[in-house]
Amino acid sequence: MDDIKKNIMENIKKNRLAPSMLAIDFRHMEDELKAVAGVGVEIIHVDVMDGAFVPNISFGPPVIKFVKEAVPDIKLDVHMMVQEPSRYFDKFIQLGADNITIHAEATSNLRVDLLKIKDSRIRAGVAISPDTPVSEIEAVMGIIDCVLVMSVYPGFGGQKLIPEALDKAREVKELRDAKGLDFDIEMDGGINRDNVKEVLDSGVNIIVAGSAVFGANTAENAKEFLELIKD
Ligand code: DX5
Ligand code: ZN
Repeated sequence: MDDIKKNIMENIKKNRLAPSMLAIDFRHMEDELKAVAGVGVEIIHVDVMDGAFVPNISFGPPVIKFVKEAVPDIKLDVHMMVQEPSRYFDKFIQLGADNITIHAEATSNLRVDLLKIKDSRIRAGVAISPDTPVSEIEAVMGIIDCVLVMSVYPGFGGQKLIPEALDKAREVKELRDAKGLDFDIEMDGGINRDNVKEVLDSGVNIIVAGSAVFGANTAENAKEFLELIKD
């Protein structure tokens, strides 16, 4: 566990692409995962949806297990769109999650939950949906490794980026810098090769992209993204 964490921590504040598995054609899951790994992607974004916090159900532990086995060197960035997420921490940690991000709106014990993740010596992230102000997470900024700013309403891939999310990312960055902290800023939803520069300019360094990566030319798409976000 220590090594896993150390590897990611060394990369802090560097630009990274985290393709979202939600957009994978499940008939070719292994090939698609290997395609992105093959061009240098280091993180896979894993969207877990419970049908309660969001109006959609995605996948759970067996799929995560498969991903870890298919591309063991890739870091798993688990985005839990799950009500009271702590019920599942042990399972995801056991399956090899490198980062667990929970929604501020999904728990009545945000700080306690984040500390539970940290206790397991993996990275902890906090996500905010489009209607949640940055002020809601200011108090936990000192204990987290990542803030995930949602640029669409969570639940579905293929939506259009909400431009106000960029202002929120800027606000998060200003607070982070003012507090002398060094967590990553991640954005998720509607990011493509046309708007990714703007997203980076707002202070984001982890780019989640689903439908703009997986599809007809997965390896080529990922390669072009990586080129665009190079530090
Ligand atoms: C939405 C998910 C996203 C989604 C992004 O609830 O959290 O990760 O898969 O998909 P695109 O990039 O297609 O907007
Ligand atoms: Zn996500």
